[in-house]
Amino acid sequence: MQVAPTPQIAVLDAGGQYCHLIARKVREFGVYAAVFPSETAAKGFGGAKGLIISGGPSSVYDDGSPTVDPEIFSTGQPVLGICYGLQLAAHLLGGAVTKGVKGEFGIATLELENLSNPLFDGLPLAQQVWMSHRDLVTGLPEGFRNLGRTTTCPVAAAGDIARGIYGVQFHPEVVHTTYGKNLLSNFLFNVCGCAKDWDPGRRIPMVEESIRETVGNRSVFFFASGGVDSTVAYTLCKQALGADRVRGVYVDTGLMREGESEFVKRTMPSVAIESAQNEFLAALEGVCDPERKRHIIGEQFLRVQERVVEQYGLLDGHWILGQGTIYPDTIESGGTAKAALIKTHHNRVEGIQRLLERNLIVEPLSSFYKDEVREIGRELGLPSELLDRHPFPGPGLAIRCLCSSESGSWPSTPIRSVGVQGDSRSYAPVHVIDEFPSSAAGLHAAATELINSSTGINRVVALAVSRFPLDAMRVAASTLTAARLARLRRADHIVRSMCDRTGFEKRVWQFPVILVPLGAADAPDSIVLRPVDSVDGMTAQSVLMEERDLRELAAELLTVDGVAAVLYDLTHKPPGTIEWE
Ligand code: XMP
Repeated sequence: MQVAPTPQIAVLDAGGQYCHLIARKVREFGVYAAVFPSETAAKGFGGAKGLIISGGPSSVYDDGSPTVDPEIFSTGQPVLGICYGLQLAAHLLGGAVTKGVKGEFGIATLELENLSNPLFDGLPLAQQVWMSHRDLVTGLPEGFRNLGRTTTCPVAAAGDIARGIYGVQFHPEVVHTTYGKNLLSNFLFNVCGCAKDWDPGRRIPMVEESIRETVGNRSVFFFASGGVDSTVAYTLCKQALGADRVRGVYVDTGLMREGESEFVKRTMPSVAIESAQNEFLAALEGVCDPERKRHIIGEQFLRVQERVVEQYGLLDGHWILGQGTIYPDTIESGGTAKAALIKTHHNRVEGIQRLLERNLIVEPLSSFYKDEVREIGRELGLPSELLDRHPFPGPGLAIRCLCSSESGSWPSTPIRSVGVQGDSRSYAPVHVIDEFPSSAAGLHAAATELINSSTGINRVVALAVSRFPLDAMRVAASTLTAARLARLRRADHIVRSMCDRTGFEKRVWQFPVILVPLGAADAPDSIVLRPVDSVDGMTAQSVLMEERDLRELAAELLTVDGVAAVLYDLTHKPPGTIEWE
């Protein structure tokens, strides 16, 4: 193992969720930084060229709130206090901190004083910053100058320029602070005189070291999903601890795509497969409503996880739970909730809840973004068929296998799908146009126009191929059955194989394939193709395929037993959602 160098920058952890992000951002400049408990004695930072005090949720007036050794301000090492770090520095050095009433959360404009100083060197006088605080610095310690303000924060940046002690109320480490990187770089190189000594290639040994530290002599257990994050986290733990100290279970819900269990076995060979197909199918029997489906699947997951926790004796103190939580997962709508809070939504099951409460959890990727996780995965030698996978929803094929409680001729008996219109969820009939989806036809514009001019629909699909005329089709009362899931799985597999072959897989962000109960007596279902392009799944554009590829694909799909037609979704998001339920 490579040994990490002596940190040039010590990040003092005052309890803030961005503490590790600060260290990571510093390392991105090629400067090694490490995180220390905030109370570490000043002499513990002997080798550091500078210190950064992180933010934190406390008020300096709270009993037992994090503090620092006041000696750190006398060693001559530059200090940068961020958010709570600024307030703490001001408080300890004789300034004034006032309890905030209103708080300031989110984007603000920093107005800098026209005062030359190395921290803000080269930065514009007005700039966007990201704030998250209630308390305020209202009086400066001796030797300090006010360096900037926002409309609600009179001291948004301050410093004793001669001693190299600075503080900022905003968060330079988050992307929403436009010049945050420049400010950190100024602190490292202008104020502290750091030299480059760190290569991002070392992040794997570093993560491994922190896994060993957290886990101690215990072992790690994962609920594997076959997704990128949990597989990379699992592989890192195995590498850090040895294969015999890492175990995992993959729950086969029966709602996964073809070959998924085999894929998980291949990429995570030591993972045990917990078969729960029958339980999931039984729980979903006769359920048509999309929301109820999701709810039941969530509940069922919790039940199986609870059983596994019992079965493997995970509460005996020798185990710690491994999770593939990545950095964006730890941020809830803009950034104040901690990872544990968010994860408990997904892991409410009692046994896991107890592990979480006792801090029996290791999340090796919690300071990385998705692209970094993919890079780490590549460095670990994981195959690109895993790392470049499209997102796949937790409830699996269940939300792509549409059911109907009524039967009748179409369109008077409609097929409904979920959409998002005017910021709220809609559940409305799908409109079908009898036209082959070719790019020459301006179909996207026509579909958008149709939805905008009609209040009754939220989605438009075009008929690619059909065994029956549209007006002869019927909607059949149907539920989630093993046979219908098998039909969808087969169709999905045909689509994926074709996409791999033609390279279309790489042209789209995600490609759901949906089964709808529209057809005729011996062929009761149709297949919907839903390829979309997106950046983050929040908005998406329907993407058209090459006409020749689509004709070939549609013809092959029509050979699947029980399939009457192939439809092509032309709806962007909004007004549609990516998934149909
Ligand atoms: P929608 O359908 O809301 O989907 O446009 C946006 C993205 O989220 C995925 N998705 C889910 N992922 N559990 C997940 O893990 C879910 O319940 C879920 N629902 C939707 C969807 O596949 C798309 O990428």
